[in-house]
Amino acid sequence: MASEKSFLLVVAVLLLLSPALGAKERCNPQDKKALLQIKKDFNNPYVLTSWKPEEDCCTWYCVECDRKTNRIVTINIYLSVPETNFSAKIPDSIGLLPYLQTLTLHHLPYLTGRTNISGPVPAFLAQLKKLTYIDLSFNNLSGSIPPELGQLPKLEALHLDRNHLTGPIPASFGSLKSNPDIYLSHNNLSGPIPPSFFRLNLTRLDLSRNKLVGDASGLFGATKATQTIDLSRNQFAFDLSKVKFSKTIISLDLNHNKLYGALPASLTALDNLQLFNVSYNRLCGKIPVGGNLQKNDVYSYFHNKCLCGSPLPKCSN
Ligand SMILES: *[C@@H]1O[C@H](CO)[C@@H](O)[C@H](O)[C@H]1NC(C)=O
Ligand SMILES: *[C@@H]1O[C@H](CO)[C@@H](O)[C@H](O)[C@H]1NC(C)=O
Ligand SMILES: *[C@@H]1O[C@H](CO)[C@@H](O)[C@H](O)[C@H]1NC(C)=O
Ligand SMILES: *[C@@H]1O[C@H](CO)[C@@H](O)[C@H](O)[C@H]1NC(C)=O
Ligand SMILES: *[C@@H]1O[C@H](CO)[C@@H](O)[C@H](O)[C@H]1NC(C)=O
Ligand SMILES: *[C@@H]1O[C@H](CO)[C@@H](O)[C@H](O)[C@H]1NC(C)=O
Repeated sequence: MASEKSFLLVVAVLLLLSPALGAKERCNPQDKKALLQIKKDFNNPYVLTSWKPEEDCCTWYCVECDRKTNRIVTINIYLSVPETNFSAKIPDSIGLLPYLQTLTLHHLPYLTGRTNISGPVPAFLAQLKKLTYIDLSFNNLSGSIPPELGQLPKLEALHLDRNHLTGPIPASFGSLKSNPDIYLSHNNLSGPIPPSFFRLNLTRLDLSRNKLVGDASGLFGATKATQTIDLSRNQFAFDLSKVKFSKTIISLDLNHNKLYGALPASLTALDNLQLFNVSYNRLCGKIPVGGNLQKNDVYSYFHNKCLCGSPLPKCSN
């Protein structure tokens, strides 16, 4: 009787423990192998301490497995403490994760310490066809933007801002069918925007603080989905009076360029316009009255060739 009871107890305990003991790990073995290689290639940084070979990779920090397929779909390495050992270029081993959808790799703004992700933006990312979100901002990446990225079929957002990238915006970006949000600010990109790029129907675009030149008017259009465009601090030169703006625009920052012509009256019809800045250009003529244009202060309009009228001083005849 007693032995029967203890037998049942043992069985019950075993049943309770079995999920823990016998649990098959969710992690796909190929993905685990790739991740351990990535950890090694990054020089075993502190942020990846939880990536232990004996543990299920679906439980590690900075990664996410798909609920159904258990494949790795997210890498999100967001450095918040200074690393002494984080090096250096973005490893090719990331290319061994064919199901990756989200890749985030950066450190907190203004974090000091020896956290340098440098080298180029790798072209192999273009082979990860499921990528929807790439964030490599706030690093020390250099070289030019690989044209191959224009082949990513599902891209929804590309953040390469705050690096040291040079060269042009690739013409191949004109074939990005998914119209991703594109953030390339605070780099040293140069040359004109390629005409193919004007085909895109982007909602958010930030090209500020680069060395881009020429005519950017093709970015705009009455029927585009534009909400936010920041072209500030470049050397764009085009006639603003000819531009047709979409009514969807919320934020339009054009300060510090070489824009000329007058402000078109159609700007007064932009009911959603919250931020508008054309300061430090070569614009001329009377600021149209109406809409949200007089809600901005003089600092949105100052330092132009001969802009006048509210909120700037009256135009003289
Ligand atoms: C830094 O990396 C080197 C080489 O991989 C290793 O020998 C050393 O222990 C690491 N230092 C720290 C503080 O993790
Ligand atoms: C980061 O860069 C600094 C100076 O640019 C260098 O001294 C340091 O070794 C680099 N650290 C790593 C982990 O590459
Ligand atoms: C950035 O990378 C360059 C090489 O590409 C290197 O010379 C420089 O020291 C790095 N700077 C920082 C702050 O990491
Ligand atoms: C751009 O290049 C200039 C010199 O050519 C350099 O001083 C500056 O730091 C660079 N800026 C970025 C964001 O790389
Ligand atoms: C841009 O996209 C919006 C919807 O997001 C659509 O209504 C509009 O027709 C498109 N415009 C062009 C020029 O493709
Ligand atoms: C517009 O840009 C100028 C020049 O950079 C800046 O001084 C001003 O604060 C900006 N105004 C707004 C509302 O962004």
